[in-house]
Parts: sequence; structure tokens; C-alpha cells
Amino acid sequence: FTPKSLLGKRVLITAGPTSEPIDPVRVLTNRSSGKTGYAIALAAKQAGAEVSLISGPTALPCPYGVNRVQVQTAQQMFDQVMLVAKHSDVFISVAAVADWHVVNAQTNKIKKTEQASDAPLLEFAANPDILATVAALPQGPWCVGFAAETENLSQYAHEKRVRKNIPMLIGNLAHEVMDTDHTTVAIFDEQGEHALPSGNKAQVAELIVQAIADRLPTP
Ligand code: C5P
Repeated sequence: FTPKSLLGKRVLITAGPTSEPIDPVRVLTNRSSGKTGYAIALAAKQAGAEVSLISGPTALPCPYGVNRVQVQTAQQMFDQVMLVAKHSDVFISVAAVADWHVVNAQTNKIKKTEQASDAPLLEFAANPDILATVAALPQGPWCVGFAAETENLSQYAHEKRVRKNIPMLIGNLAHEVMDTDHTTVAIFDEQGEHALPSGNKAQVAELIVQAIADRLPTP
């Protein structure tokens, strides 16, 4: 890990899940602790970057020296990212963004009745794809995506990188990394797949930050 390898770079990171309301007391969310995104934010800061972290709900403290904005929904995350993305050199999209929100969310708590047949029906609409939108910005930041898969990691990660039109994607197997401090990832880029050594999320975050610094085009 070369100190100051991101010196002067403005790095924008999303982390954690998003949370989509059903009513004031119920939400739909993704399983994500935020640990990987927060570890990358800290590693980028230690590498000399100016770091903005747009975070969904997590139990984690803000990494020292990082500028954090907390959001709930995917739409709020999208809005905050779009405010900062144009002024960023690098965008690392770690968040597990909910793919849909509930269109018929209620402003008051949905009451349970004795009738099982009264169970509510939820109606969904797609959330914006934050990473794909940033990747399509003219003169936008250099984009890094994440893919947590349960099978066919190499194939899906490669396809996702090409589909989102981004230079680098980090892939992992969801069941190996969820709810743990340990992680195993591989980097996917134009050259193919590169396995990184396993380690705790702080160690792997440093390797990821170094890999990004090594690939960033020189101005
Ligand atoms: O296949 P999927 O679209 O979920 O790809 C995952 C990658 O896309 C991750 O980097 C994730 O942060 C990002 N993503 C996003 N906005 C979405 C869905 C996924 O930025 N609505």
C-alpha cells in the first residue's frame, strides 16, 4: 500500500444498503453491513484522497477525516451522488442499492386485521441505477462497480462490467462476505480477472485502493 497514492484525488463512495419504506414503521432493504465501503473510504483517505461517503443506514461510525452524508432510499442516494459526481475523480459504487421501491407506500401504519386475506399487496417500481448513470456522464469520474453474486461469479462480473461500461469491477461471492469481517474478492478489468489475496475488510480495502491508484489514467 503506497501512502499518498491518491493524493489530491476526489473520491466518491457509496456504501451500505438502501431502505425503502412500506409505511412509517416497515421497510424493504438489502443485506449489507457497509463494512467494505467504509473500509475503502478509510483506505482512500489514508492514501491521500479527499473522500465523500454517501451511506445508507448502517451501525458504523464515520471513518476519520471522511465527509459522510447519510441517506435512506435509493432515490436519496442517487440525488446526493449526482450533486458530487461531476466534481469527483473516482466513483466507487459499493452500496447494495435496492432495485425497486414501493409505489403504494402508506403514510400511516398499515393495520393488521383478523383476515389473512387482507395482507397488503405491494406494488414496485424500479429505482435509478446510480452507477450506470454516473458512468454515462460526459467527463464523469473513473468508475468502479461491485458485484455480489451467488454463482457464476466470473461470468456475471465480466458481463456486469461491460454492461455498465466501467473500467473496473470488484466481484465477490455473496455468501462468503456477508455479515463477516473477512472477504475474498477478484478484480475484473479490460485485461480479465485478477484474484486478490483474502483478508479482513481493512486489508482488502487497501489492496483495492492500490489497484485503483495503479489503473487511474494520468492527467
Ligand atoms: O447488478 P447490479 O445493477 O446490482 O450491479 C451492482 C453494482 O451497481 C454495484 O456497484 C452497485 O453499487 C451498483 N448499483 C447502483 N444503483 C442501483 C443498483 C446497483 O449504483 N440501482
